[in-house]
Amino acid sequence: MKILAVCGGLRQESNTNKLVRKIAEASGVDYEIADLGKLEVKPCTGCSDCMMNEGKCPIEDDMQGLYGKLLEADGIILGSPTYFMNISGAVKCFIDRSLALFYRGIGPMYDPDMPFMGQRPLAGKFGVIVTTVAGAGHEKTIVELALCMGTSQRLNLVAEIAEAIGMNDVDDMPEVIKRAEAAGKKLGDALRKK
Ligand SMILES: Cc1cc2nc3c(=O)[nH]c(=O)nc-3n(C[C@H](O)[C@H](O)[C@H](O)COP(=O)(O)O)c2cc1C
Repeated sequence: MKILAVCGGLRQESNTNKLVRKIAEASGVDYEIADLGKLEVKPCTGCSDCMMNEGKCPIEDDMQGLYGKLLEADGIILGSPTYFMNISGAVKCFIDRSLALFYRGIGPMYDPDMPFMGQRPLAGKFGVIVTTVAGAGHEKTIVELALCMGTSQRLNLVAEIAEAIGMNDVDDMPEVIKRAEAAGKKLGDALRKK
């Protein structure tokens, strides 16, 4: 049993990433960190090669390694900082590139009447989504993350964390840490029950 914990903050001291790590630790399940700050994930070009070529994306970068890790994971945590009241560009690149997985012949169809929408290989995996913000916009970001990872990718989201933290370090905010740990425990319990 394994969790893939995707840290979408690119800052060394990213509060978002600190919460992603807390959630993963609190789950009590083996986890692997995918730190987008240390990986190269280029934007999707919309070439449609993946649709025609069994889900193979022609862009040679670190997303190639993440495809397999996403498919192998039982649980997925995804964190994005809130930028301009939305997910960050780096996280959007990661989500857009995950489209290739829809064409690998794995998982339920998105809609049998729309075969071009592909399949959903991550359907039913447990997930937690996370965002942090200085002041405002995190409510919108968490809705966007839920749409991408829940409605579209069909993860079973067991917790959604959206925290306004001002200019603080999240390590100095025990209530926020407590909520992240509770989310992690919920994820771990869901995975152990499976
Ligand atoms: C490009 C950019 C856009 C931002 N947009 C917002 C915003 O819309 N609302 C807000 O309150 N804070 C905004 N912030 C502040 C971040 O949301 C906040 O610092 C967040 O916690 C950063 O996450 P991190 O610590 O994981 O890097 C923005 C910061 C950057 C760099």
